[in-house]
Amino acid sequence: MKTIIIANQKGGSGKSTLTVHLAAAADHAGHGPVILTDTDPQGTAGDWFNQRRKAGIATPLYSPIALSEIAAKVAALKEAGAQYLFIDTAPSVGSVNAELFAIADLILIPLNPTPADLRALMKGMPLIRASGKPFLFTLARVRSNLRNNEGTAMALQSLGLVLEARMHERVIYAETFAHGKTALETEPNGTAAKEIKTLWDAVKAIIHENENS
Ligand SMILES: Nc1ncnc2c1ncn2[C@@H]1O[C@H](COP(=O)(O)OP(=O)(O)OP(=O)(O)O)[C@@H](O)[C@H]1O
Ligand SMILES: [Mg+2]
Repeated sequence: MKTIIIANQKGGSGKSTLTVHLAAAADHAGHGPVILTDTDPQGTAGDWFNQRRKAGIATPLYSPIALSEIAAKVAALKEAGAQYLFIDTAPSVGSVNAELFAIADLILIPLNPTPADLRALMKGMPLIRASGKPFLFTLARVRSNLRNNEGTAMALQSLGLVLEARMHERVIYAETFAHGKTALETEPNGTAAKEIKTLWDAVKAIIHENENS
């Protein structure tokens, strides 16, 4: 089982939206069992899952995990045959994330391409680096044609690996979230669904490259 932690201390950077979409993409692609969990007290990904269950969609599965039991829970999920565990996190820095990073196979960092978001990210980088875990950036909530986009991508490249695949700002991501769904179910052949599938394929490839290196 591979554990992917989606983190960025900046609130509203798109962590929860990215997490549920990637978990759903892995599930739709038949790469499961896929497990989703949420360590954010706001419970955004947990709420999404509850709506999803009400809508009659059972997967990806959800597993509540308390930080105190995280290592044991991850071991149990692995033992039970789970393939991917996606962990949504709170917009915070400090010891909570340090403990979480310890169990990561990959830390995925969505970044809005704005100077303020980049500055906030720089402050969180020491904790990410200190984890010694592989980390990967992707631009999220990207608005096409903004001048900041390419400049931010270049600045990020000096900090670490940046995915070419990006998650753009699209109404469908926000609208589907409220109903426990994703763009993959509402418009399976749409631009957003294609973008998410590409993003998941790229993330998955990097996880498995890391495994072999
Ligand atoms: N790609 C996107 N396109 C459109 N809206 C988005 C996108 N990503 C996120 N949003 C919207 O932006 C807001 C914040 O997104 P989200 O909750 O995913 O961020 P977050 O980083 O998890 O926030 P927090 O730090 O509070 O946990 C939500 O209203 C969400 O619907
Ligand atoms: Mg969130």
